[in-house]
Amino acid sequence: MTEEKKEMDLMVLLEEKRVFKPSEEFVKQTNVKKWMDEHNIKDYDELLKKSGDNPEQFWDERAKDLSSLNGYSKVMEWNPPYVKWFVGAKYNIVNDALDRHVTDGKKDKIAYIFEGEHGDVRKLTYNDLYIEVNKLANALKNLGVKKGDRISIYLPMIPELPIAMLACAKIGAIHSVVFSGFSALAFRNRVNDCESKIVITCDGFYRKGKIVDLKKQADEALENAPTVENVIVYKRTGNEVGWNEKDHWWHEIVKDMPETCETEKIDANDPLYILYTSGTTGKPKGIMHAHGGYSVGTASTLNWVFDLKENDVWWCAADIGWVTGHSYIVYGPLILGVTSVMYEGAPDYPAPDRWWSIVEKYKVSVLYTSPTAIRLFMRHGEEWVEKHDLSSLRLLGSVGEPINPEAWMWYYKYIGREKCQIMDTWWQTETGSFVISPLPITPLKPGSATKPLPGFRAEVYNEGGNPILNAGGNLVLLNPWPGMLRGLYKAPDKYMETYWKKFPDTYLAGDVARKDDDGYFWVQGRADDVLNVSGHRIGNSEVESALVSHPKTAEAAVIGKPHKVKGESLIAFVVLKEGIEPNDELRIELRDHVGKEIGKIARPDEIWFVNDVPKTRSGKIMRRVIRAKAIGAPVGDISTLANPESVEEIGRAK
Ligand code: PRX
Repeated sequence: MTEEKKEMDLMVLLEEKRVFKPSEEFVKQTNVKKWMDEHNIKDYDELLKKSGDNPEQFWDERAKDLSSLNGYSKVMEWNPPYVKWFVGAKYNIVNDALDRHVTDGKKDKIAYIFEGEHGDVRKLTYNDLYIEVNKLANALKNLGVKKGDRISIYLPMIPELPIAMLACAKIGAIHSVVFSGFSALAFRNRVNDCESKIVITCDGFYRKGKIVDLKKQADEALENAPTVENVIVYKRTGNEVGWNEKDHWWHEIVKDMPETCETEKIDANDPLYILYTSGTTGKPKGIMHAHGGYSVGTASTLNWVFDLKENDVWWCAADIGWVTGHSYIVYGPLILGVTSVMYEGAPDYPAPDRWWSIVEKYKVSVLYTSPTAIRLFMRHGEEWVEKHDLSSLRLLGSVGEPINPEAWMWYYKYIGREKCQIMDTWWQTETGSFVISPLPITPLKPGSATKPLPGFRAEVYNEGGNPILNAGGNLVLLNPWPGMLRGLYKAPDKYMETYWKKFPDTYLAGDVARKDDDGYFWVQGRADDVLNVSGHRIGNSEVESALVSHPKTAEAAVIGKPHKVKGESLIAFVVLKEGIEPNDELRIELRDHVGKEIGKIARPDEIWFVNDVPKTRSGKIMRRVIRAKAIGAPVGDISTLANPESVEEIGRAK
């Protein structure tokens, strides 16, 4: 079938049924419908209204349904911009995610089905996980780890990653996971920012058939990380690694450890983790989440949106190095006691049907992924999908970036076989859990994440802070919610400035969105200088700083350009230092340099050498103008620029 014909078929389907409604039969069996029946709520609109009228009561009920939180004197305490949930409760998320399952009949249930890239399979029951976590927690205690200590985790997608996170949380330590695709330098900056006492890493992992030598990167990072006292190294690949005084093999330090370990009861508002995310400045922000609210936020949203039940096999195909994995591979699913699939490697290795073979083999019933992955598979063609029996799938999900209707339709038609609703979930590292998302009972409009979930309130504000309809504006959240971030690590001013200053006591998401007449939200992208590449946030200024740190670069401006698969691709305009010759080798050198400074995902797709970049008279780089020029859109008024002639050069470079 030709590309045009295929696209036309998908669009015909889209035209025919603009709103996709779930079947009544399906609705009847959902967790949310059952809850509504128990609470005498007749439909979706009434559910939104009732939960919106009294969110505290709503979250109190959800906490009682899903967690062991108790003894709190207040459900919520709001001292803008800081919130506390379940005030006064003694709690630990690990009790709900793990300990209770060992006694509540889920001991032998599989928590994770792990498949390595080269086909090795491990199945860990809740009891297996419990024992591994306890042993590592005891080993951490032996190394002197105390409540509140920070531990940086630099691990790939292997079961030891959730084990390490849970072991930290169990003893009240704060974990800070760093995506294994980040470079040594990016890892070092994050370790130093939160002053970690311990690092947990591994020798290597498999990616596209090769071993990635992670220990080498960790070693490079730790050459200058003065707070780190000990390094725990898991043996995954058995490749040769360098060895330092502070290093301990994971298997050796856990060998003689007891299989039980007391779970530290801490305050429900004590920090659980720090996760770094890109912002508008070169330095990533350390988003903090706490035990109590986060547990209710993740478990409740997962239970309703993806409707997980006892026999489901859940596959959130993200990496735990990002918030999606934290909330929906680790904490949410474990609290609900479901079985999850975890896959180590590249989606198209050794062939583009790897994912579909996994779905078929483990009878995955609910799949959650990103538009970038969907577009990648779409490009490979449906013949790879059609080789496999995907009839186990009953619900699908999408996250990380706006999903274009074509990708939505392809996902619906070829993966969902026109039987599965698609949950397009809008949320952020900061929100901890889904915020704007359909429930399985919600009529869908492809490309819209639909409405705020029960218990959340969102709006689109114009610059004056008034709600607007049918026009792009600032996406804001009006009430605190349980999974809300608790601040930025050691950066209270930045916290205030980034999220709470523009509209008082109102959370500014940093996205542009539109709300339509039916109250459906259409998120269009970032409002600030943050790019979304393959569903991952990358700050323009982060890449610019990396480019400028190269000895041959004087100045750099980085913009995003629409890309068929990745959503956005990175384009850099670079001004070289006096006397440096621009050439292709230097392009490669600069790309590699960014890879080293940040990680492969941040390498610009295109680098253009220019004499100057458009700036205001105060010296601020005008990315908006550069972007418009680069994609051929109107640049607007440029008379106030310090160097308007540079705009023409941008046009010629492209
Ligand atoms: O711009 C929005 C986009 O991803 C940003 C959050 O990125 P991060 O904190 O890395 O978390 C990604 C996974 C939750 C948002 O500000 N985004 C996320 N989900 C969607 C989305 N944009 C449109 N539709 C979505 N469903």
